[in-house]
Amino acid sequence: MSGQAEFVVVANRLPVDLERLPDGTTRWKRSPGGLVTALEPILRSNQGAWVGWAGVADADLDPIVEDGLELYPVPLSAEEINEYYEGFSNATLWPLYHDVIVKPEYHREWWNAYVEVNRRFAEATSKAAAQGATVWIQDYQLQLVPKMLRMLRPDLTIGFFLHIPFPPVELFMQMPWRTEIVEGLLGADLIGFHLPGGAQNFLYLARRLAGQQTSRGTVGVRSKLGVVQVGFRSVRVGAFPISIDSGKLDELSRTKAIRDRAKQIRKELGNPKHIMLGVDRLDYTKGIDVRLAALHELLMEKRIDPADTVMVQLATPSRERVESYVQMRGDIEQKVSRINGEFSEVGRPVVHYIHRPIPRDELVAFFVAADLMLVTPLRDGMNLVAKEYVACRSDLGGALLLSEFTGAAAELRQAFLCNPHDLDDVKDSMEKALNQPREDGRRHMRALRRQVLTHDVDRWARSFLDALAHGGAAGPALIAP
Ligand code: ADP
Ligand code: G6P
Repeated sequence: MSGQAEFVVVANRLPVDLERLPDGTTRWKRSPGGLVTALEPILRSNQGAWVGWAGVADADLDPIVEDGLELYPVPLSAEEINEYYEGFSNATLWPLYHDVIVKPEYHREWWNAYVEVNRRFAEATSKAAAQGATVWIQDYQLQLVPKMLRMLRPDLTIGFFLHIPFPPVELFMQMPWRTEIVEGLLGADLIGFHLPGGAQNFLYLARRLAGQQTSRGTVGVRSKLGVVQVGFRSVRVGAFPISIDSGKLDELSRTKAIRDRAKQIRKELGNPKHIMLGVDRLDYTKGIDVRLAALHELLMEKRIDPADTVMVQLATPSRERVESYVQMRGDIEQKVSRINGEFSEVGRPVVHYIHRPIPRDELVAFFVAADLMLVTPLRDGMNLVAKEYVACRSDLGGALLLSEFTGAAAELRQAFLCNPHDLDDVKDSMEKALNQPREDGRRHMRALRRQVLTHDVDRWARSFLDALAHGGAAGPALIAP
């Protein structure tokens, strides 16, 4: 049975979460994370449908149109949330794909739930998609959907994009269900990664684990796709670095309301000489502990003066029932209070820590107000926050401290790049960025903005969807498994 939608996005989460209020009523609120930030404007301009979970247990909802978006909710039970979402997706795949910063757990029941839920997503998508439609499956939670959906609906054109890093081969080989995952992905016509390195790793695994022939040569950025020959089908593999709606953010950041609010924020913080800002989901990949440790040592060494410097950390709650997140939250909050205990004065904390999501306009005002943006992940597929900060600095003010271990570092070369595993390097870069001459800062920011404004999310989606639409046969040069 096929549906009406010609273009379907499939992601674990819908762009909005259903919130159940204490009085028993419900309302929709924006879902957290970079995937939603990037895809929402794309879905609006393509007039498509979005298949995903509403963020709460046992919500059996009919398809709805919410704020102009056509949504197809997929229900998850409390047990599936535990095993498929918190378990296999976020305590197995997430840490494995992020350099095993915490140890991935491998449980057979979690895997079974992952298979079961992926099948439900494939079935829901099959019902929503029109004959011959284009379906774009997103991220690590749904890696089996491409193959399952192809079996149900061979008429569809299927794309898959991974929003997180694809790990080195040696790490991926830990996965007990490694072959099933590679074969699941190979159900797509085009598989996209942020970086050529991820695409290259996948090509190697397609040969080694799935026993398929693959193309020779290296994969380029938005060019030179790799090919896996699966029977008569050519599955293409490429690198498509994701981005943001930079033009819209640039415009918003220039408005008087935002400028005024930014000034007010500076005032509320006591008009210090330096404001440092961190904006993240509260996740152990983000290196929030790294920047706090660097700040702490710089304060102890008197290289930063607590009388004229503040740090603001905006941290959205995330995956709060997963054990490693519970532990990390405790660790971060202890570090924040330790710094404040040692260096703050009454009414003048050094670190301002806010553990709730911030409205979009308020976030933009923080970007405009901050002198130094701290982006220090131990590993991050892209990191959109770095690009958002740059897009908001039409005044050419501010500086960006950026971890080399983010996808964004491949594009934002004029940032203050640092190795988050090397605390001295982070401290030195932080100090240098805070004290850079104004003219140098303006030059760096101009170059960063050129990159971010010319490579926006629309370009990302177009390059992926054009490559998906214009499929081609494999070239002659294939490497045997
Ligand atoms: P991830 O997808 O891992 O969360 P990204 O940096 O790619 O990381 O994307 C995060 C998105 O969530 C960005 O659009 C950012 O503005 C938003 N965001 C992060 N922290 C907050 C916060 N505290 N309040 C509101 N939005 C936030
Ligand atoms: C990252 C992932 C997304 C995820 C988001 C928020 O951006 O790539 O797939 O949706 O984090 O995480 P959550 O677990 O709350 O959906």
